[in-house]
Amino acid sequence: MFAIYDYPCGMSIVKPHIRALVSSWRAQSPSIRLIRLWLGVTWIYGGWDKATDPNFLGKVGATSLAKQLAGYSKTSPLGFVFQHLIERATLVGVIVMLSEFALGLATLLWIAPTFIAFSGFTMSLGLWIAATWHVKPYFLGSDTAYAVLWLAYFLSLVGKRRKIELNLDRRGAIRIGALGVASGFATLLGRNFAKTPATTNTTATANQLIKVADLEVGKTHEFVAPGGEPAILFRTKNGVFAYSEICTHQGCTVAYSPSDKALLCPCHGAVYDPFNDAKVLGGPAPAPLSKIKVAIEGSWIVLV
Ligand code: FES
Repeated sequence: MFAIYDYPCGMSIVKPHIRALVSSWRAQSPSIRLIRLWLGVTWIYGGWDKATDPNFLGKVGATSLAKQLAGYSKTSPLGFVFQHLIERATLVGVIVMLSEFALGLATLLWIAPTFIAFSGFTMSLGLWIAATWHVKPYFLGSDTAYAVLWLAYFLSLVGKRRKIELNLDRRGAIRIGALGVASGFATLLGRNFAKTPATTNTTATANQLIKVADLEVGKTHEFVAPGGEPAILFRTKNGVFAYSEICTHQGCTVAYSPSDKALLCPCHGAVYDPFNDAKVLGGPAPAPLSKIKVAIEGSWIVLV
């Protein structure tokens, strides 16, 4: 379509691609454009969210991939695969970030669109099997919806074609290479803009959590448990007690809702009763939250 000698030097690569990019958006129907935009932006945001998360590649914290893999190894039908990946969590995390950036950028920039759409579909399918397989009803897990969106987008690209071309010519190879560099750059940039971990009033090494006088009866106090996970302390007229805030379903962080008098998980709706040993009141969580031993010693509430 575009001869290599139409443009001088590097422009021979760039100009045809810009033309193809503009006409790709023009040629698509508004509904397909919307799906493409949503998928592209969301996947870039997904990569950025992980790249800026100081816990994602670490071993502690609610969003640690190692912890998530440990959860998948127990709940996914392919649990044995995730079990093997736990010790390679850092490498897996880097691949996930790069892939999300690459899929998002390529979708918006019309790079290998059919291949990318199919990759997006398989990645969402993988996430569904890994993370949201046991979510019931299924529509509470977003991975199934994304798998369907990618598939619909892929089918719109394939159209009535009987044969799907995945050949990579010189120009295509250069674009893929540039995409890899851009994804790597975005990942490094994200690591430099890492979010500050959630603030707490104490540290994991301090035995003393908070002064009794600073925590009124009926109030709560969040802190970091010795294992590094977020935790929440309650003071009632009967005493003090605390729980890990890591949901026993798939490791999201729960939050206390004073109006519901319950700890709620934002991911798939698990509900725990903090005033009854964190027993599960609803949702897919298989077990109560882990208890953390605390006590009042003198004027302090301490870890025991
Ligand atoms: S992680 Fe699924 S309900 Fe909490």
